This record gives sequence, C-alpha cells and structure tokens, in this order.
Amino acid sequence: MGFQEVFGALPEASARAPGRVNLLGEHTDYQEGYVLPTPIPYFTQVEAGRAEGRVEAYSETLGELRARPLASPAQGDFLDYLLGVVWALREAGHPVPGARFYVRSQVPLGAGLSSSAALEVAALKALRALYRLPLSDLEVALLAQRAEVAYVGVRCGIMDQMAASLGEVGQALFLDTRTLEHENLPLPPGTRVAVLDLGLSRRLAEGGYNQRRQEAEEAARRLGVRSLREVADLCLVESLPSPLDRRARHIVSENLRVLRGVEALRKGDARGFGALMTQSHRSLARDYEVSLPELDALVEAALEAGALGAKLTGAGFGGAVVALVAEALWEDFQRTLQDRFPGLRLL
Ligand code: GLA
Repeated sequence: MGFQEVFGALPEASARAPGRVNLLGEHTDYQEGYVLPTPIPYFTQVEAGRAEGRVEAYSETLGELRARPLASPAQGDFLDYLLGVVWALREAGHPVPGARFYVRSQVPLGAGLSSSAALEVAALKALRALYRLPLSDLEVALLAQRAEVAYVGVRCGIMDQMAASLGEVGQALFLDTRTLEHENLPLPPGTRVAVLDLGLSRRLAEGGYNQRRQEAEEAARRLGVRSLREVADLCLVESLPSPLDRRARHIVSENLRVLRGVEALRKGDARGFGALMTQSHRSLARDYEVSLPELDALVEAALEAGALGAKLTGAGFGGAVVALVAEALWEDFQRTLQDRFPGLRLL
C-alpha cells in the first residue's frame, strides 16, 4: 500500500519525525524546568496531499482509513492528531484548507516513546512543505503541543514535541522549558542508548499524570513561587505537607540532575551521566511515585547487566526503561536481559 493506492494521486509533500526517550529531567517540563531527551532512530513518516474542508488519513500500522470534516471534535482515534495539527495551524492564522495523509510509523505505540508527538511533528512538517508555511522547527513544536493540549485534550508539557522537531539522533537536546533555549549535545562517546520495553500498558497514566501536575502546582503555590523551577534550595521543600514535600523534592532535585548531566556530557563523562540517570529513577520511584514494580525490576536488571545508568522514561505508570550502556558491553547486555525477560523488546 501507499499514498497513491489509497488516494489515487501522488503525494505532494512528505516529512518524518522520530520518537524519543528522556535521559534526565522527568516531570519537570510542566514546572518550567530543564529536560534532556534524545530522539530514537525510529521515525514516523507522513506523506501529504491537498484536500478541501476535510482531513483524511490512512495509518499503515493500524490498517485504517479515517476522514472527518475540519470542524469535527476529537473522537479518540489517530485522526485526532492530524485534525488537531490542521486545527492548530488554522487557529494560528495559516491558510490550510484541509489535507490527506498516509502515515507509516516505526515508533512503538503506547510505550511512552512519544509516538503522538512524532506523528504531530511529521504531519506539521509535511503541511509546512505542502502549503509553503513560514514556520520554524520551534514553531512546529509549539503548534504540535497546542494540538495535543487544546484539540486532542492531553495536558502534556513541551518536551516531546521539541525532541521530535529539534532533536538529532545521537545527541541529547538540553532544553530550558521556561525560555525554550536549547542546545544539542553529543551523547557520551563509546556508549549506546538502550530502550527496554516490556509492553507494560499505561492504563492509569493520564489520571496519574494530571494528579502529579496538580500536586506540583499546589506545592509551587504554597511555596509562593510561579513554578518549582524557581526553587534552588532543596531544604525549602521540607516545609510542605506530605506528599507535596516529596513531589517538590523530585522536581527540584531533578532540575539539578539535568544541569549536572549537561556538565557530564560536556566532559564526556559516561559514568557520571549514568549515575544521574539511576538517581533520577530512584527519585521518580520514591518521591514522585510514578514507577511500577516491573519498571524498578527492569532498571535493577539493566544495572546488574552492566548498564552505566537506567531509569523509566516519559510519564511512568508503565512504558519503557532507558539505559546507557558501554558499546563494548552491548552484546552481553542484550543477551543477559533477553534471557531474563523473554518478552522484552530491546530497541
Ligand atoms: C509525558 C509528557 C511530557 C513530560 C513527560 C514526563 O511524556 O508528554 O511533556 O511531562 O511525560 O517527563
């Protein structure tokens, strides 16, 4: 199958965007903090053609063709993301009359690898080429986030869309989510980023994510700051009632870990960087309480198999683990983990 078989015409534009894992800076982006994601070499490819008054799309992964008029509300399927980006563009004043898309994705769905951000960003970049829209990659990321928050209805931060739009495979994207200043930094030499996916479903993720956001907002309010990004002194969080003290401690310490991680990257210090990833996981598990026993076990198994560091990636409550592994150890690492977890997908 291809665009031409489905729509009877050739595509007029195409673009792709990768999934991501987050190395450090988890649950900080909705409190104006620092993040450090890296794209994975798995892409969503979107081919696009013109249409009037409607959005049509075929998903090769799902084997589904969907079409709805421009003004339709979100319905909970993959077309929402595409209607969402067209809606966000029109809202921002770009004359997009509609579109047809053919979507191929290598990014595993539901594993916390940001398949939705990859789809939004790839579709926006295809539309940018199709309708010659004057948009920077940064504006693409912001429009993708707007589509997800205001159209699809998921209250995410900006990390995933920035990684999909501005990230480069093999580099970590150091992003200040308050100013949107960003810089690509090379990953430690002689290492590989491993994604470990047990296929854990993320059923309670959305409720849990929104609850954590509210707790973080409440902690910031009680501390009298605009966001927890402004808190540099960890002692301040001790005055908060439980569990807000633990939630704030995670965010404040996580911001420090990103800054230390950036220093480690600048020095090429793989060991130091890995240690920060593992500390991040422990903080996510104990203080932020977004891990699961299965994720903790996978992190410990990765460390026992020789990883320099490992942590859950993304929102938690399921999803995948990311580990930093010395290149020289890669094959042993892979074998050990696959023997121990027969259902494991290792990317
Ligand atoms: C999800 C959200 C991101 C971020 C992470 C947690 O992936 O989409 O914006 O908040 O969770 O770090």
